[in-house]
Amino acid sequence: MRTMVDQTADIGEILLTEDQIQTRVAELGAQISNDMAGRQLTLVSVLKGSLPFMADLMRAISLPLRIDLMEVSSYGGATTESSGLVRILKDLSSSIEGEDILIVEDIIDTGLTLNYLVRYLRGKKPASLRICTLLDKPARRLVEIDVDYTGFTIPDQFVVGYGLDYGELYRNLRFVGVLRPEVYTQE
Ligand code: PRP
Repeated sequence: MRTMVDQTADIGEILLTEDQIQTRVAELGAQISNDMAGRQLTLVSVLKGSLPFMADLMRAISLPLRIDLMEVSSYGGATTESSGLVRILKDLSSSIEGEDILIVEDIIDTGLTLNYLVRYLRGKKPASLRICTLLDKPARRLVEIDVDYTGFTIPDQFVVGYGLDYGELYRNLRFVGVLRPEVYTQE
């Protein structure tokens, strides 16, 4: 097992600082609160990567809201490429029929995960369905996704931190950084 005293040593470049992320999350929360004023929201977070973003974003939204959590998987373990395979590992815990849904994602890469998820959730007849992603990596898109709220558009680099992992690690970093290529080519 790989042991890491300092995970930050594996980061080549900090792409988004903690301050930049927190400022943008506050802006997104204000924008969503404004756009959806007078309504009650249900945030559907897609585990595990969106956990820190969800926790911060829900507190930046001033509307009454409830949350639900799904876990889907599109990547096969410690790889940096999408497999195209989407599996539901954890489903919604209650009905979303007639509700205003905001899907909260950490990153849209190929778009395969959200493409699947949007069709799945639409089938449950919500009143509305919107998408909020912290990061968008449009260079790798394979299917078109209509995104309502985007935190940052980023280049095609392998990023970790603020929920994003490599081999399940680095999720607890407060910033988003680019993983040194030698970390994923040495294994
Ligand atoms: C990541 C991310 C998105 C998805 C995006 O999840 O959280 O859900 O991949 O990729 P796509 O646009 O190419 O489908 P992952 O399956 O790695 O699970 P995790 O959130 O538990 O890390």
